[in-house]
Amino acid sequence: MAKVYATRRLPGNALERVREAGHDLEVWPGACPPPKPELLKAVPGAAGIVTTLEDPIDAEVMDAAGPSLRVIAQYAVGVNNIDLEAARARGIRVTHTPGVLTEATADLAFALLLAAARRVVEGQDRVRSGAWRCWGPELLLGPPVHGATLLVVGFGRIGQAVARRARGFGMRILYASRHPKPEAEAALGAVRVGLLDAALPEADFVSLHVPLTRETDRLFDRDRLARMKPGSVLVNTARGRVVDTEALLWALEEGPLFAAGLDVTDPEPLPADHPLARHPRAVVTPHIGSADRPTRRRMAEMVVGDLLAVLAGGEPRYPAV
Ligand code: NAP
Ligand code: GLV
Ligand code: GLV
Repeated sequence: MAKVYATRRLPGNALERVREAGHDLEVWPGACPPPKPELLKAVPGAAGIVTTLEDPIDAEVMDAAGPSLRVIAQYAVGVNNIDLEAARARGIRVTHTPGVLTEATADLAFALLLAAARRVVEGQDRVRSGAWRCWGPELLLGPPVHGATLLVVGFGRIGQAVARRARGFGMRILYASRHPKPEAEAALGAVRVGLLDAALPEADFVSLHVPLTRETDRLFDRDRLARMKPGSVLVNTARGRVVDTEALLWALEEGPLFAAGLDVTDPEPLPADHPLARHPRAVVTPHIGSADRPTRRRMAEMVVGDLLAVLAGGEPRYPAV
């Protein structure tokens, strides 16, 4: 029997399988993650920790858990909140949920792309505020989506799933990735760009799908945002820190951006009085990319499956590194 600490309740009854396997499961009952001091108090002696993307799983937390800790099972595909080096150095396995949430997240990215370009939220605000007085030839004009050029930055699972959707809208697809993806190029008619900066002036839409790493931290800074095409739209469903928030506000106010569709922000959560939260041409959702019901249930099954596999002395199916 091993101690397992879960920082959140998960949808469905996957966590019950931890108890059924004979382990001692403790679940933080809060609607938000445990504050760090609570986390540090809760983990000593744990062999497994089930985490979500807001939990700062650094060396301090690993050392608080102690040598018993064998697996950190993350309920997300992105693992930038976990110090992977520290885990490796301590022989702790880190697992995550790749693939299962690809289509759900691509759906949301496309929803944000459409909503930002076609001013869906501004339109709704008008209706709700009573400002809808008559039809207008120039009411809420925006850029066309069909036939436009989309640049996908990070052409992995989710980036390619967004490109598949874009094909249905007759979009021309460019992508930036460190390595070429010839199969996806053939299947999607996508063209790899050599230099991101050279491609930015061509793209009507830019959608971000890179993991947050040292290399991608504020990849979209003021210089890069300034290179975007006048009237273009930026969509970010990757991680908030891939974009410099101050520079994004500049790009919306004085720079080339027409609008932004954001499921992730920096800071996150975004305070209601933050200029980005109040910006009329920023459509912001609260990090809900994978939030369709079956996806979130399947993610829980994956997390628990890998947690139990490692605790039983086996290999995880979805190691993060
Ligand atoms: P993935 O399949 O690993 O794709 C990421 C791609 O980014 C890889 O193909 C990689 O290709 C590319 N890449 C890495 N570093 C790069 C760089 N410096 N420049 C250009 N491309 C780079 O991951 P995924 O499953 O699509 O997920 C992507 C990210 O989306 C996750 O890490 C997570 O942060 C985020 N996400 C957010 C939500 C949400 O709720 N909003 C949901 C799921 C995932 P190369 O190695 O060839 O460069
Ligand atoms: C969500 O953001 C994830 O990385 O799964
Ligand atoms: C608009 O509603 C139209 O009929 O063109």
